[in-house]
Amino acid sequence: MKLFIDTADLKEIREAKALGVLDGVTTNPSLVAKAGRSHDELIKEICELVPGPVSAEAVCSSAEDFIKEGQRLAKIAPNIVVKLPTTEDGLKACKALSDQGIKVNMTLIFQPVQAILCAKAGATFVSPFVGRLDDVGEDGMAMVENTMDIFNNYGFKTEVLVASVRSPTHVVRAGLCGAHICTIPFNVIGQLLKHPLTDAGNARFIADFAKIPKGK
Ligand code: E4P
Repeated sequence: MKLFIDTADLKEIREAKALGVLDGVTTNPSLVAKAGRSHDELIKEICELVPGPVSAEAVCSSAEDFIKEGQRLAKIAPNIVVKLPTTEDGLKACKALSDQGIKVNMTLIFQPVQAILCAKAGATFVSPFVGRLDDVGEDGMAMVENTMDIFNNYGFKTEVLVASVRSPTHVVRAGLCGAHICTIPFNVIGQLLKHPLTDAGNARFIADFAKIPKGK
């Protein structure tokens, strides 16, 4: 399973990278707005920091504009993935950009049929939003599990990038159904590492080690 970080905060990206588990980055306009810096400049810096795929979202209102913006974003760095919304215009642009060899991540997916259309239009990644489905009383991970079954039935090459991750349980269920990638907020990456028994056991070993008589 590949792990991406879902943030545009360089400090968080550096810290996650230092853990040695980071395969890529996803951003969105809300995350970049929080960073308070020019979009392209920030994305370029993230691309230099992390060699894996870095998703940068195009915000436009027609397929033609999405294509132009996608081509422009793709020139920022070789590891850019153009993120497009799963709308009619987004889908048309996905097909056009993918045909040109530009990697596309289709975002805001809430049902498996949307993911099927994106895979058929050549998307490199599809991003089902599990946390936002949970928020409205649905089981977001069940949607990912169904999507994985369908993709496996047909051997689709498109990778399923589980997004809107809110807890370690999302990551476990993603792994169990074979989802290719989870993009995870920084605080949840921290939760993946933590277990009270690990901390208690480590504290005990440190205390006991101090009791061992020193000598040759
Ligand atoms: C990732 O690509 C998405 O932009 C992100 O995971 C959305 O997460 P949220 O629902 O917590 O905003």
